Amino acid sequence: MNKQFFNPNPEFAKNARVGSMEAYHELMNEAKKDYEGFWAKRADEKIDWLAPYSKVLDESDAPFYKWFIDGKLNVSNQCIDRHLADKGDKTAILFEGDRGDVEKITYSQLSQRVNKFANLLKNRFRVKRGDRVVLYMPMIPEAAYAMLACARIGAIHSIVFGGFSSEALKERIKDASAKLVITADGAYRKGKPYLLKPVVDKALEGDIECVEAVLVVQRNHEDITWVDGRDYNYCDMIDDESDICEAEAMDSEDPLFLLYTSGSTGKPKGVQHSTAGYILWAQMTMEWVFDVQGDDVFWCTADIGWITGHTYIVYGPLSAGTTTVMFEGVPTYPDAGRAWKMCQDHKITQFYTAPTAIRVLHKMGKDEPTKYDLSALKVLGTVGEPIDPPAWKWYHEVVGQGRCAIVDTWWQTETGGHMISPLPGATPIKPASATFALPGIMAEVIEEDGTPKKIGETGLLCITKPWPSMIRNIWGDAKRFKKAYFGDVEKDGKPLYFSGDGAVIDEQGYITITGRVDDVINVSGHRMGSAEIEAVVKEDDYVAEVAVVGRPHEIKGESIFIYIVLKQEQEKDMVKHINNLLSQNIGNIAKADDIVIVAGLPKTRSGKIMRRILRSIAKGEAITQDISTLEDPSVVKQIEEAVKNS
Ligand code: WTA
Repeated sequence: MNKQFFNPNPEFAKNARVGSMEAYHELMNEAKKDYEGFWAKRADEKIDWLAPYSKVLDESDAPFYKWFIDGKLNVSNQCIDRHLADKGDKTAILFEGDRGDVEKITYSQLSQRVNKFANLLKNRFRVKRGDRVVLYMPMIPEAAYAMLACARIGAIHSIVFGGFSSEALKERIKDASAKLVITADGAYRKGKPYLLKPVVDKALEGDIECVEAVLVVQRNHEDITWVDGRDYNYCDMIDDESDICEAEAMDSEDPLFLLYTSGSTGKPKGVQHSTAGYILWAQMTMEWVFDVQGDDVFWCTADIGWITGHTYIVYGPLSAGTTTVMFEGVPTYPDAGRAWKMCQDHKITQFYTAPTAIRVLHKMGKDEPTKYDLSALKVLGTVGEPIDPPAWKWYHEVVGQGRCAIVDTWWQTETGGHMISPLPGATPIKPASATFALPGIMAEVIEEDGTPKKIGETGLLCITKPWPSMIRNIWGDAKRFKKAYFGDVEKDGKPLYFSGDGAVIDEQGYITITGRVDDVINVSGHRMGSAEIEAVVKEDDYVAEVAVVGRPHEIKGESIFIYIVLKQEQEKDMVKHINNLLSQNIGNIAKADDIVIVAGLPKTRSGKIMRRILRSIAKGEAITQDISTLEDPSVVKQIEEAVKNS
């Protein structure tokens, strides 16, 4: 099946923005010939500038690239105000609650609510341009209002995924030195209310001095604790605010938001995105990759706590003036037909989800999609991890009825938007390949010294030219920014952006992502740093040594596998104990599927843990690598035995 091409649907291609490979090559050649000119043309076309930029790209302080120097704009203008004249009555956000409640918010209503929210932040909480605001929110429209309200007044939001624990939240609040936390009492999941506010209360215990107030949106009206003088009720206050708040003229390079993500070393890093470059690419990729047009209804199932939710629930769809669906619940509740029912009810035209979700929905209800009218669907997208051919086939044949293009989009928190992806009206698709770099994006698969990899050989996936929506910095740690992304690969003496992923290019130039080549584990499309998990486990009194690796998993893509050496033998149920620890310190997403107690870890004589060996053992593979360089080669046999018996 891998050799087979799936050509774009000719009917779709007729009206697509990029309707053929010739058109794709034309765009790409335009970018290659005059890189800055290519981007300038789009920036002029797409952005409503409040003041023009004087220079397209400044590379003088590389890798701290700057785009559209001196330009002034406001992202909430881009996403709201400029649509009001002709799209005021169009639905901007189509919200569906867990229990099936639906609310349609028009662009005019969105404008009123965002303006009120912005005034509330400004007037009552004295939030100013450049201040950091942490959002710990469920999937409700107020989360989007809060993001846009921050953008309107120039505050920098940092969303923490609602599945993270109080400890993880605390760490991120402190790192960003946030002035305000916006949260909700809770929300609904699988028909039941759950609480978020107590997690915030716990995160703010002790030594957090930066936070002046907590703003609470009431979603489920459950009983929560209100701290006098610190906690404020959004629902009581918002009506008093005016719905006119002038948008701050932001500089192109002012940070729009921070988003913490895991790397291969140390604690999570606050990825810092810019204003102009980010919003430009968010809108362009909505138009190219999803080809949203007219009355399309776009649904991205991600959580707003991840980059996919930032770019493809809020900023991308709204800047493109489309209708974006926001869903509070899970696609398997009340049954495995929920997502398909929503596609039918709301006449969804583009559906964007993760391979993990596709595998779950396939497993739980192979024929479920056929029970619903999915005839509005045009484009189906995937993101977050490589999609395996069986999942791809089902998505294409059963969900897409062979009619829809499947866009397998490769990108990262750091890239801001899609980088490598098919264009639905142009690219002949090979299943499980992300195909080609988008026009304007220069991707190469190379060796560490910068030489290109041969066809068919796996190498390092690098982006060789700066692009507008790229990460600008790691919040408060410029040194780490340089080292993490520009420290590994050089070409002609210039550092290149290295993604941390491996990839392979075939004889037709198709790029297939092979997965992370660093110590980042991808669990259900969520990035987990093995070092981050190890740091938590290491703190435990019972643990002498720990090593964490990823193991292939049928549904999740990868699962977490932990090897532990104990200080001394004891009776405790270590699996439960360690998973509790991870759940408290990071969140349930960090729980391990396997925890194996071993007598020792495979180390070189210099003390380096040989993770490759541990990965092979976790996978159940025979050890073929040379183990003679290990300090104690016999440890390998012992570990294999321990895993077998666990
Ligand atoms: C992986 C998510 C294969 C990759 C937008 C990357 C993918 C990491 C794909 C970023 C894809 C994302 N095929 N792998 N289409 N998309 N990845 O920062 O390993 O949460 O480095 O951003 O997900 O994850 P992040």
